[in-house]
Amino acid sequence: MAPRILDVPLDTLRRERTSIKWRRYGDDVLPLWIAEMDARPCPAVAEAVAAATTRGDTGYAGDEGYAAALAELARAEWGWAPAHGSMVRVTDVLTGIAHLTRLLTEPGGPVVVSPPVYNAFYDVIASIERQVVEAPLTAEGRLDLDLLDTTFAGVTADGVRAAYLLSNPHNPTGTVHSADELTALAEVAARHGVRVLSDEIHAPLVYATSTFTPYLTVPGSERGITVTSGSKAWNLAGLKAALVVPGGDARADVARLHPFVTFGASHFGVIAQTAAYRDGRAWVHQLVDELDANRTLLADLVREQLPGARLLLPESTYLAWLDLRPLGLGDRPGATLLERGRVAVSDGATFGRVGTGHVRLNFATSPDIVREAVARIASSVD
Ligand SMILES: Cc1ncc(COP(=O)(O)O)c(C=O)c1O
Repeated sequence: MAPRILDVPLDTLRRERTSIKWRRYGDDVLPLWIAEMDARPCPAVAEAVAAATTRGDTGYAGDEGYAAALAELARAEWGWAPAHGSMVRVTDVLTGIAHLTRLLTEPGGPVVVSPPVYNAFYDVIASIERQVVEAPLTAEGRLDLDLLDTTFAGVTADGVRAAYLLSNPHNPTGTVHSADELTALAEVAARHGVRVLSDEIHAPLVYATSTFTPYLTVPGSERGITVTSGSKAWNLAGLKAALVVPGGDARADVARLHPFVTFGASHFGVIAQTAAYRDGRAWVHQLVDELDANRTLLADLVREQLPGARLLLPESTYLAWLDLRPLGLGDRPGATLLERGRVAVSDGATFGRVGTGHVRLNFATSPDIVREAVARIASSVD
């Protein structure tokens, strides 16, 4: 049997991890905020990166077959055959989304999102000086297609160009959008001329109870563009390299990305991400099984120790979206939990106004740490 992936003890993590997750707060704080995993590394990735360092292969990125490796993974995992010849590389997913959104909209123009949604989308939109327009998910965490229809109609009145940032699957709720929902989205987007950018970074992290649908496989999505990498599923945020996958009618747009942008991926990122996609499938399947057990453990602990709190059981991702409003922790429960319980989670309000009173908790860690986190949250409640 393969060794466990999510069993690194707390004292080892504190001693050995130097990334921001472990270094932002003091040693008394349990960090479950940013989307990094407390995972042991995928051996195929660790070996590929170590071998490149040892042989002095430390220059600029060449073509390591990264796009072909994604195409093969997509075929094997999701029955999708994207044309790897039309993909381009970018530094990371957010950089790709920022540059593409800039190309597809005007300065000050509308970019629609469905909160609660990945908080960095707001920063990306601000950084390129566009306007956020919110069309929240339903209370069940699903795309609200009627609201998207009216929102798209409103923002494109007078011929204004608009984009929609889709988180597929959805951070922070873990929603796996269904093929029917995505087909309906493609239809309303096409009807109003809104360009869809689908961020699919969490796609390999879907639990067996749901089915992932790549946006570009649904009818009518041809003008859409997907941006992705193995950064979340293989824990490679420090090894930057992402891929932009244009729909059939979006190739000319993607070709307009400046060479400076498409030169941005690092050689080590490309080596690592390629190894993950090519040789890391069994590893990620095991990871998803371990995360699934953590997901159940967390749901049980929340039910037992945090009566009144509402956990939206994620269909994907290692992120749990918790409504803590009934617990009386205030509008910024993240700050309260840090102060009282010494546990760092992401405050819900940063994911859009509808997230007020919620927190996002990262459960990609050992079951012991999940238990300790819930105990600390419970001890913070009056
Ligand atoms: C939905 C989503 N997109 C993008 C990112 C960041 O990706 P990158 O580091 O490649 O920009 C994250 C990180 O948590 C994420 O959750």
